[in-house]
Amino acid sequence: PPLENVLNMHDFEVIAKAVIPEKAWAYYSSASDDEITIRENRTAFQRVWFRPRILRDVSTVDWSTTILGQKSSLPLYISATALGKLGHPEGELTITRGAANHGVIQMIATLASCSFDDIIDAQSNNQTFFVQLYVNRDREITKRYVQHAEARGVKGLFITVDAPQLGRREKDMRMKQVDDSAGAEVQKGQDVKKDQGVARAISSFIDPSLSWKDIPWFRSITKMPIILKGIATAEDAILAYEAGVQGIVLSNHGGRQLDTARSGLEVLVEVVAALKARGYYPDPKFEIFVDGGVRRASDVLKAIALGAKAVGVGRAFLYAFCAYGQEGVERAIQIFRDEFEMNMRLLGARTIDDLCPEMVDAGALGQH
Ligand code: FNR
Repeated sequence: PPLENVLNMHDFEVIAKAVIPEKAWAYYSSASDDEITIRENRTAFQRVWFRPRILRDVSTVDWSTTILGQKSSLPLYISATALGKLGHPEGELTITRGAANHGVIQMIATLASCSFDDIIDAQSNNQTFFVQLYVNRDREITKRYVQHAEARGVKGLFITVDAPQLGRREKDMRMKQVDDSAGAEVQKGQDVKKDQGVARAISSFIDPSLSWKDIPWFRSITKMPIILKGIATAEDAILAYEAGVQGIVLSNHGGRQLDTARSGLEVLVEVVAALKARGYYPDPKFEIFVDGGVRRASDVLKAIALGAKAVGVGRAFLYAFCAYGQEGVERAIQIFRDEFEMNMRLLGARTIDDLCPEMVDAGALGQH
């Protein structure tokens, strides 16, 4: 269908499913085990209700913000999703080019199909990148990757901490064979187990021994802000703050890791309360992000009202570029922008700073 007929992120998903290879769909859409967490990521947003305010002169509204000190035209960033070429021949470069035209930040995946340098070389308009890190068993490889990213101007290091082993994504595993043509750079020369699905085949280098003791080492090798991606409890949020990192992503990896883990949105409530109780929140030097299930600007506004600085969006942009390449990415950004405008007007929030816990009723969030 013509792009102007695409009205929301759900449309991109339907179209992507119809046009991409079955194997790509299995890899992208799958989540672990019974896929309960991936469903919960959507339904959690539906348990939070707005408490809109009226008569606040919303003739102009502004949804721009900063993320880790970087300007962002939207209060969201495009999260790392691996193997973009399974679904579109230009892979992650579609995001790079689309995001550059609209001031949106892209997080580059360790397991991107396009090489890190090809993505950075394609940049324009002084765009901002973050990088996602899977920590290699060989720390020299990790050190080189991190320092190269910093040298090339990346503004944030998101260390994935929820994947000491990849979850079992059965849809993906049933596809069996691995398509090396879309393979990530990092996997080259590795011994891949072809019956484990795409995800598991490319992830054997990830170090399961990673621990809190490693954080000072990361601090010693880079000046980039360090963000731990995949925090799921108040206890670990406190440890992260005390470890001196610059932020956390409350995330269950899009439902792809521990099934029946809670949604990032639900975790946000307990994290903010626990940090507040210790005087750790608010702290402009420690930003809290949420990802998982974001498909509407209203989802984003709820997370920010409850204390997030911004949110990460994975599959929505993945499906947008699978369906329409760079133009799909730009259309997705435009749809989010239109939704922010309307929702902020109707909510009575003129700026992102106006969003506050009183604008939502999250009382049902912990009920399942
Ligand atoms: C991911 N995600 C992910 N995260 C990460 O840290 N490293 C990675 O390589 C990947 N790869 C990846 C592939 C695919 C196909 C998906 C769908 C997701 C997780 C991603 O960064 C993010 O946490 C979730 O995608 C957020 O949920 P939504 O927006 O997809 O619902």
